[in-house]
Amino acid sequence: MAHKILVTGGTGYIGSHTVVELQKSGFEVIIIDDLSNSRQQVVTQIEKITGIKPDFHKINLCDHSKLRSFFNSHNDIDGVIHFAALKAVGESVRFPLIYYNNNLQALINLLDSLAILRCNNIVFSSSCTVYGEPEKLPVTEESPIIKASSPYSNTKQICEEIIEDVSRITPLRSIILRYFNPIGAHESGLIGELPIGKPNNLVPFITQTAIGKQKTLEVFGNDYNTPDGTCIRDYIHVVDLAQAHVSALQRLFNKEHESRVETYNLGTGRGYSVLEVLNTFEKVNNIKVSHTFSQRRPGDVPAVYANVDKAKTKLKWVATKSLEEMLSSAWLWEKNLSEGILRK
Ligand code: UFG
Repeated sequence: MAHKILVTGGTGYIGSHTVVELQKSGFEVIIIDDLSNSRQQVVTQIEKITGIKPDFHKINLCDHSKLRSFFNSHNDIDGVIHFAALKAVGESVRFPLIYYNNNLQALINLLDSLAILRCNNIVFSSSCTVYGEPEKLPVTEESPIIKASSPYSNTKQICEEIIEDVSRITPLRSIILRYFNPIGAHESGLIGELPIGKPNNLVPFITQTAIGKQKTLEVFGNDYNTPDGTCIRDYIHVVDLAQAHVSALQRLFNKEHESRVETYNLGTGRGYSVLEVLNTFEKVNNIKVSHTFSQRRPGDVPAVYANVDKAKTKLKWVATKSLEEMLSSAWLWEKNLSEGILRK
């Protein structure tokens, strides 16, 4: 019998790519999403890729009674991957209570239901943002967690602590995955990132500028202490990232975990500057992107990239896709979006 996996936030960017990889690996997937930052059409897009329509339920995890009744009729779930969360850094600074309420309450309700169900396997979606501005690069899982610079980032830190505390007194086994910078889209061009309004992140801004939805890309700061003066990040293909979730679940199901909570960095281990990303995008897609240099963006750290040795040895996972593949898939997705792929 296939393991049944609940994916919260399964119609979102990383969630949808993970659902595809889970189905390809033989897992049966159920999605919960409140569609606050995604579209239900993604379920059909997933089916177009894998030939399997995932079971979909529109539920906000903060609605405890709705969640309970969902679990009453789905009491045979073997594992959960918890993506559902609000994730815009700037928005979290403007609306901290909404962020704390949503991201913390969702996890608390979920853990509460899982305990009743005796479902003990959870993979949690965290972020390299917990490391802030690291003193030493690359960043290992043992690097200090510093005071969060935004409510969003704080919710990730607190959620990690909630999982630690609950794991201490229950049979819960958890894998926390700290993502670096996920970019790109599925090679089919059928699913990808769907930013609402003006994108905050670099690659959607580049693709939207290239297609003409945005006028000019602003490069935030070219006076950092880096080789070309722009910030360095560890960009990782979203499909590589999705596959790491499958490896994490397999580790839990195979009982290979060495402690109740394990934490892994997910990146490529290599950093690229904003200009390197921009130049590679132009080259691989043979298109020019209008850009200007502007002030540093508040809160940006000069450079972050991961040490990924732990994921390699324990999860037996390594990112394989190049920056070129990330940026050509992102462009294919943007072109498909502009041709109305989600309306077809
Ligand atoms: N950048 C620009 N212009 C833009 C957008 C971004 O120059 O229009 C630069 C940023 O200044 C930064 C780099 O591109 O140097 C990457 O920025 P992103 O916004 O794409 O990514 P971040 O590293 O800021 O964000 C990542 C994750 C977030 C997470 C955040 C926490 O993508 O989900 O780290 O710091 F919340």
